[in-house]
Amino acid sequence: MNFNPDYYNEFTDSLLPANKLIDKLQYFCDHNNNGNMSIILDIGCGTGSTTKLLTGLNCERIIGCDIDPKMIGFAQQHNKTPQIDYLVQDFGLPWHQLDDRLRRLAGRVSAVFTNYAMAWIWDKQSAAQNIAKLLAPGGLFVANILYDGDIAQCLPKPERQKCYELIPYPTEHDFIGGWIMSLKNAGLSKIDIDYWEPTIVMSEQLYLNEYIEIPMNWFKHYYNNGRNQDVDNLLKKLIYDERCRPVDQLSTDGHKQIEIINSTTSISGDILIIIIMVGAQAVNPNVLLAIGLNAETGIGRAVDRIGGQGFGADISGDEEYGAGGVRAADDTAGSAVIVPYN
Ligand SMILES: C[S@@+](CC[C@H](N)C(=O)[O-])C[C@H]1O[C@@H](n2cnc3c(N)ncnc32)[C@H](O)[C@@H]1O
Repeated sequence: MNFNPDYYNEFTDSLLPANKLIDKLQYFCDHNNNGNMSIILDIGCGTGSTTKLLTGLNCERIIGCDIDPKMIGFAQQHNKTPQIDYLVQDFGLPWHQLDDRLRRLAGRVSAVFTNYAMAWIWDKQSAAQNIAKLLAPGGLFVANILYDGDIAQCLPKPERQKCYELIPYPTEHDFIGGWIMSLKNAGLSKIDIDYWEPTIVMSEQLYLNEYIEIPMNWFKHYYNNGRNQDVDNLLKKLIYDERCRPVDQLSTDGHKQIEIINSTTSISGDILIIIIMVGAQAVNPNVLLAIGLNAETGIGRAVDRIGGQGFGADISGDEEYGAGGVRAADDTAGSAVIVPYN
């Protein structure tokens, strides 16, 4: 992994879901902290463009850390405000090896935020322990974690198997599950999951000539037999086939355009919120079944989000929380039928 800050800076604004994380922070702040936060830490802050967005929150101090001195140099130069301090830090190091300036914040950080950086931190256990040590009691962790591993899923079985051998990318279970377990083991809890799909439209030529290098570089970490042009070509084709859809309209300068799809999973809770990027997968069900629904996380919201018709089943007939929780359906635009199941 080696990012060029100038190039990355151009790329981020349109694709990154930082604002979604910030909305969650704002909500948490409004409902838990009388609208105030003392310190927010941004792990893997990169060019600082998303760190600067955090200044919109009511927060006394923001710290951005990144392993790459080039990124921190760029952030200092372009995205510094009196409220923000930047420092070079590999966040995957064990606690006792972290910079003193970070360790002094133990138990005082209101929220840890990280946008598209966790996937590059190899030592999940250490990172999770560090987050838990830094957070104040009742603090919040909001993150998205890139997971791109499903690009071979549309291939016929023998080809898919061959692809997995050439690029033994960890399964979602190992990768995302590894993060969840590390965070749980570190003492974080109350996990909630959510999926969504940010998309971007750009010229096909630009994507194939430049931007596709970003997901390709990620997979290249996992090549079995070193760098290889044939595997590069296969990878490029798989990413294109899985993620890109044609768009009818030409760009203003007359180029063919494509829509690039990323699926995002968010996991949220009172203490811990994680947003996870997973490989592209359009979900468009006709019928949804929710088992054990309640008024807040019911089928109504799911139907509202992804369409289709919904059925909810719950052992309790409770008006508010069980299968009688029609409010869950009524509060949304989707249509849902709630069925008590006991
Ligand atoms: C895809 S960029 C995201 C940058 C920024 N968060 C944003 O949303 O624009 C990933 C960043 O994570 C940083 N990074 C990778 N490994 C890291 C580590 N072990 N500790 C801290 N930062 C790391 C990289 O240097 C890079 O700047």
